Amino acid sequence: MSRAVRFGVALVLGLALLTYGASVWVQRRTREWFDKDLSSRAEAAVTATRRILASRWDRPDELGELLADLAHDERVLAAAACTKEATPLASSSEMPAQFSCQQLGPRLRPSADAPPSAWAAYKESAALPDGAVHVSAIPVVDAERALGFVVLLHDLSFVERREAEAQKFLLLAFAFLAAAASALTVVAARLSWRSWSDELRRFLKGGKERPEFQPILRDVRELVERIVEEKETDREGGAWNPARLKQALVRHLHGEKVVILANREPYIHERAASGEVQVLHPASGLVTALEPVMRACSGVWIAHGSGNADRQSADGQGRLKVPPGEESYLLRRVWLSPEEERGYYYGFSNEGLWPLCHIAHARPVFRSADFRHYEAVNQKFAEAVCEEVDSEDPIVLVQDYHFALAPRMIRERLPRSTVLMFWHIPWPNSERFGICPWRDDLLEGMLGASILGFHTQFHCNNFIETVDCYLESRIDREQSAVVQQGRSTLIRPYPISVEWPIRWLSDAPPAADCRAALLEELRLPPDALLGVGVDRLDYTKGVEERLLAVERLLERFPSFRGKFTFVQLAAPSRTAIPRYQQLNEAVESLAERINQRFGQGGYRPVILKRAHHEPPAVFRYYRAADLCYVSSLHDGMNLVAKEFVAARDDERGVLVLSQFTGAAREMTEALIVNPYDLDEASAALKTALEMSLAEQRERMRSMRTFVAEFNVYRWAGRMLADAARLRRRDRLTGRLSDHLSAAAVGG
Ligand code: G6P
Repeated sequence: MSRAVRFGVALVLGLALLTYGASVWVQRRTREWFDKDLSSRAEAAVTATRRILASRWDRPDELGELLADLAHDERVLAAAACTKEATPLASSSEMPAQFSCQQLGPRLRPSADAPPSAWAAYKESAALPDGAVHVSAIPVVDAERALGFVVLLHDLSFVERREAEAQKFLLLAFAFLAAAASALTVVAARLSWRSWSDELRRFLKGGKERPEFQPILRDVRELVERIVEEKETDREGGAWNPARLKQALVRHLHGEKVVILANREPYIHERAASGEVQVLHPASGLVTALEPVMRACSGVWIAHGSGNADRQSADGQGRLKVPPGEESYLLRRVWLSPEEERGYYYGFSNEGLWPLCHIAHARPVFRSADFRHYEAVNQKFAEAVCEEVDSEDPIVLVQDYHFALAPRMIRERLPRSTVLMFWHIPWPNSERFGICPWRDDLLEGMLGASILGFHTQFHCNNFIETVDCYLESRIDREQSAVVQQGRSTLIRPYPISVEWPIRWLSDAPPAADCRAALLEELRLPPDALLGVGVDRLDYTKGVEERLLAVERLLERFPSFRGKFTFVQLAAPSRTAIPRYQQLNEAVESLAERINQRFGQGGYRPVILKRAHHEPPAVFRYYRAADLCYVSSLHDGMNLVAKEFVAARDDERGVLVLSQFTGAAREMTEALIVNPYDLDEASAALKTALEMSLAEQRERMRSMRTFVAEFNVYRWAGRMLADAARLRRRDRLTGRLSDHLSAAAVGG
């Protein structure tokens, strides 16, 4: 039942109830009035004839005639006279037994010998079988002497008739009023809707703005902008790709230069032992995602020059054109002293913020000296940003937890800049974040951004809750924004992704060839079952849990012994930090233990390759594997999962994915597991290894369709489109305040 119908039914029922109540009330009141009226009439008749009555009191025949005259009134049914002892004297016609002299006598006088002054008239209404009657017994007093009393019986049926008529009238009147009120309401609503929608239409066509339309107009405009954006996506060929992103940049942002600030550089120049300088692609989800975006957008990438041959491959200002051989954007390297690197990168960023934001049971370490370096280095990078921009209102994309303070520093130098900050790792709940001694500085720093992006809505909510707990600010939940001193920062989810199609596939041999070659290289038989894990050697990635799940698989399902091999590509990472060194050792001894336990002859169930692997090598593994196990204990998104899917153009292979990754929310066709639950994880590995090709294809196809559509160009495009919208609004508000101040001066 619709709300309108429900409202209508309730209205009618309410009205009916009201009408019924009113009619009952009216009936009671009229009955009371009639009773009173008849009593007064009876008393008046007796009073008027009192003398005559008294004179004939001793002559019953004459008294009878007088009573007959009194009963002549059409509404008087009978009249009777009774002695003061309550014996009948005379009556016009027969009185009903209940109104006999004997019955009524005691009701008029308190006692048989009561003085005449104590006598009082008695009246009563009663229902007789022939209809309602009203009886009045009035004392007849002559010269202070009570003679007796006269009884008058009135017919009340005419009252019932009148009551019925009054009720009918009332009902009709109510029905008429209800109909008239409804009709009036409908007409009024129609008229006001018409004038309201005419007004709105007129306004949308460019008429004068009225304040009551502000909220709805904002919604309409946003909706229109969204629809236009979606439509444009369709018109431009549907899929997001580099060309599409470039076009979006030109259209929305007039081709303005994009400046990215990220700690990790996309190309590292390293001198090998041979003396030869190599260009390395670092193992970093951030780089994987942003590098294709920068190729498409051009602009400047500002990063720490961390390679030992970085200085010599850049100019005096640390600048060089990249990618090598197909130069399309500028890399600006910022140099850090070993102390700065230790305090800012290893210390506060990776021993403090990294474990703080990941639920992976590593205790954050906070040192004041580290934070001071972090602050100074953020300032250094913010200055580098200001050197690289070419306008007063540049677009700056600040990346990740290394630069929580930079957005505010940039805004202080360039108040009209549009700063987008993307946080690539999870954001913890407020209680957890609250343990950081510099939590307020970090939050204030981040709120210097115009837009703050996280992978998931969940992390956005955590951030908003954290700000709500610790800062003086206003949370605009409708806009999902934090407002401080009139400036607002939008908090938005932008789930990151990979490029599509992925560049490393262009020269890759077919998946079957990759597999054959790799199995041969690993000295595995052609029918071997191959699992792969690809990570930086980081405790958040759950590498130990992953190897334990492999061990559990071999323990529970012996048929896989000798057949299943798991290759773990582990890129050494942050090796100066003790926790990473421990992990390195733990993973190595675990692999050794499993190999000792289940290895036989040349068979080793775990192959641990602790080294940096360039993307083409990594993609060979992705393409050769029967399964890829991503077992992060906590991960913002995890792009290995998306890369694996992107690599499998043969639609084979199974993704086993930790439920604690952002990716698990999108790639629901993967086998989702809790990496801590070794029984569940090992069962999922078994399911993956035994999965039919048809099911593999079905799952893989669906995930590929998703990643193809929601690729990194779309991620960047949506962020830039939001930035463009914000800039348009800011410009309009700026113009408006210029007008207002001009008017104020003029006025
Ligand atoms: C994570 C971080 C990135 C970082 C990457 C590699 O993905 O979010 O910012 O670049 O790890 O870590 P590294 O310390 O080697 O840059």
